[in-house]
Amino acid sequence: MNFNPKILGFLCNWCSYAGADLAGVSRIQYSPNIRIVRVMCSGRVDPIFIAEALSRNIDGVLILGCHPGDCHYISGNFEAEIKMKMLSKLLEIIGFSERLRLDWVSAAEGNRFAQIVNEFNEHIKNLGPNPIKNKKLKNKLSFDFDAIKSVLKDSRLRILVGRERKIINEGNAYNETITLEKFEQILDDAIHNEFERHKILQIISQNGKSVPEISKEVQIAPNNVLSHIVSLRQKGLVDLHEVNEEIPTFISIKEGK
Ligand code: FES
Repeated sequence: MNFNPKILGFLCNWCSYAGADLAGVSRIQYSPNIRIVRVMCSGRVDPIFIAEALSRNIDGVLILGCHPGDCHYISGNFEAEIKMKMLSKLLEIIGFSERLRLDWVSAAEGNRFAQIVNEFNEHIKNLGPNPIKNKKLKNKLSFDFDAIKSVLKDSRLRILVGRERKIINEGNAYNETITLEKFEQILDDAIHNEFERHKILQIISQNGKSVPEISKEVQIAPNNVLSHIVSLRQKGLVDLHEVNEEIPTFISIKEGK
């Protein structure tokens, strides 16, 4: 099968876009499969843009920014790296992390730009088309992507990710410094839990359901569902719906209600 991937590239205005421009005026050949979106800084790329693109059949997403230390806005590319790391961990749960790449290209690196695009194009060709195009997988993956988008809209994970540098360098609220390794472990657990919790919230957004029903639908062990329900109730996101024949059912409630 002749597969030409659809690749979406977010390029920062000050370095990578200029690098792409240089590749163009220098007539350096690169794959025509990329469609470019110019952003002012790689830090402007919201992880939701990427989840949205992948859930709409895009085969791969490339984010290119200035080299570390060269960001026009000082730390935008550093912020991009942190956000993409979080997104990559989320995408890994559903087998999509290989479809995302973050790299650096300066305004003088037309050749490097072409090389990265060509390599990524080959990489995506080897991976094959986005599995969401497969009718048998579409419903499940769309549901997973809705949960991912919901996690990304939620401020909880963003706050944790945004505090990475502070927690590692200056310590937490109790002045305890945490190693990068420990922080990664906390982040992995938080990402996994948030993903499962947002799947549950989706399942019970319209109708109340019992723990066994939720467990069956989201394929999460009943005891884990129960502990997520407890946590979501404490946060005011889930409430008891009704009790049928001594079996409680739960329903999600909007934040702030
Ligand atoms: S301006 Fe290029 S990454 Fe920030």
